[in-house]
Amino acid sequence: MNTHCENCNLANLTPDSLRNVIVAKEELSPVLTSLEISAPLIARSAKAGQFVIVYMGEGGERIPLTVSDSDPEKGTVTIIFQKVGKSTLELGTYNVGDVIEGIVGPLGKPTDVEKVGTVVVIGGGVGTAIAMPVAKAFAASGNKLITILGARSKDLVILEDKMREPADEFYVTTDDGSYGRKGLVTDQLKDLLDSQKIDLVFAVGPLPMMKFVCKTTKPYNVPTIVSLDALMIDGTGMCGGCRVTVGGKPMFTCVDGPDFDGQEVDWDELALRKRYYFEEEKEAKEKFLAGGNK
Ligand code: NAD
Ligand code: FES
Repeated sequence: MNTHCENCNLANLTPDSLRNVIVAKEELSPVLTSLEISAPLIARSAKAGQFVIVYMGEGGERIPLTVSDSDPEKGTVTIIFQKVGKSTLELGTYNVGDVIEGIVGPLGKPTDVEKVGTVVVIGGGVGTAIAMPVAKAFAASGNKLITILGARSKDLVILEDKMREPADEFYVTTDDGSYGRKGLVTDQLKDLLDSQKIDLVFAVGPLPMMKFVCKTTKPYNVPTIVSLDALMIDGTGMCGGCRVTVGGKPMFTCVDGPDFDGQEVDWDELALRKRYYFEEEKEAKEKFLAGGNK
């Protein structure tokens, strides 16, 4: 059966195409997996910076994951995730042909992409999956684009070609010096701030990285946008789970963000809130590992 809505141009949607079937899977590093999933309605409207919530069925957690790529023609979205807790370990056991019970999205506000001049986009570790579409969008808007990709070591460097391709300048750093420059993304950023006029910095990665990127740009007065990954439950502004304080005001990451002015974020409170379910998450992960895979 074909579904066709003249107003929305939803031709060629079949019940099968609307099931969230995994059409491609790639292990990007020992801990990072990429899944391309059939989700035609999301693929048509997702913009850089937005996320989806993935649900794996009865008893499963709802996992917020940024859309790192979308193909409206194929009707697919790509998510990249780190196998770190029970739910992401379980998601990592899914293979091509498996169906994901539910995907909701796109959620959150798209990244505000305008022509501002010279933009530095920083992706730290798994955050590179989010930085990549944002970098592409800043380049497409006519900015001079500089990208920095940071990882702990060479085997954790992901999406290098996709961060390099749209950029006028591209840098890789590794903490242990096994690839690119030895050091942190902030070392490279400081050199750039000292050597040329930077108009905007966009950073996404682990919380300490985003906090220290903001500390690095502050003396230079360069606007710095960060993409936060607060704990989320419903993803629609109803539960309060993703509350962050920005500029002294409570904000919900899922509907007011995920992008915020990094200089205004209360990083210490966010770090505390992210650890809120640490014990429960640890227990769930141990149970999952003890019980074997899906
Ligand atoms: P990681 O620990 O390997 O760090 C990646 C890079 O970030 C490092 O190589 C370094 O260059 C930089 N960095 C880290 N700490 C820094 C500091 N104190 N100062 C300056 N630079 C620093 O990253 P990972 O293991 O891939 O990240 C995992 C974390 O990222 C998870 O805790 C997850 O919550 C978070 N994460 C955040 C987002 C988001 O939307 N912000 C998305 C995915 C994952
Ligand atoms: Fe519930 Fe944002 S996840 S308010």
